[in-house]
Amino acid sequence: MTVSPAPLVRLANGVEMPQLALGTWPMNDAEAAVAVAAALDLGYRAVDTAENYGNERGVGRGVRASSVKREEVFITTKFNRQWHSVDGARAACEASLERLGFDYIDLLLVHWPNPDQDRYVEAFQGLVRLLDEGLVRAIGTSNFKPAHLQRLFDQGLVPHVNQIQLDPWHRRDALVALHREKGIVTESWRPLGSGSDMLADPVITAIAEKCGRTPAQVVLRWAVQQGFATAPKSINPERMAQNLDVFGFTLSDEDMVALDALDRPDPGMLDADHFGH
Ligand code: A2P
Repeated sequence: MTVSPAPLVRLANGVEMPQLALGTWPMNDAEAAVAVAAALDLGYRAVDTAENYGNERGVGRGVRASSVKREEVFITTKFNRQWHSVDGARAACEASLERLGFDYIDLLLVHWPNPDQDRYVEAFQGLVRLLDEGLVRAIGTSNFKPAHLQRLFDQGLVPHVNQIQLDPWHRRDALVALHREKGIVTESWRPLGSGSDMLADPVITAIAEKCGRTPAQVVLRWAVQQGFATAPKSINPERMAQNLDVFGFTLSDEDMVALDALDRPDPGMLDADHFGH
């Protein structure tokens, strides 16, 4: 079983990133090694990990165990709050490289802004240096809200990617509009709404039935059809294949509007002004 690799999205610095990656939270090293190798053999060409997931070693092992060469895989990782300084970003990058067993990272992200600590601008300045030195090919943020991004813009800094929680129940319109204005690629985490019953939403299941697709494929198609990159997690090769197979059909304008209308307030959503690590 193989699936065509995802199309590429071009970042502001010209680097091309596969539009769909394998998410790896909450896999441990052993699970990640198996899942990453299976995903790459199936057709995936991008993997999303983080220092905080504790599975970078497994991700590296999975890449080496697969039939795909390192340079054909786009690896994203992220670092925690203790590294929010120019030197800290370098130390975080070197530690991730050591755990992954690679000599460069494709995309390195500040995982959470941690505004209580207020050092995320310095962390991003550290990323710029790593980019200049060629240790990373692209740089970005995760979970940054408009006010956090604005602090970067004020210093003339623009991330290539901002990876955020986004799905039909959490549309994040204001943030997405800001990304578009600044040429930042939007990438969604938890795109399948894990931990909620989003995939059982009757609007989603009805569209899935009508299109002969699964609910997961409908919500992933909703994301990629808007140009978002996304990183669904699965440890199951059949579901991995299903999740990658979302580039060969189109949702009608009517279906997109119906999915857009599912946006609702979520008081339980993690708020980057108060949550971070
Ligand atoms: P599993 O790893 O057993 O496949 P998210 O990316 O939004 O965090 O969602 C991940 C969750 O969704 C995991 O529990 C994963 O389980 C499950 N999942 C992944 N792909 C699918 C799919 N195609 N259909 C249903 N559930 C899925």
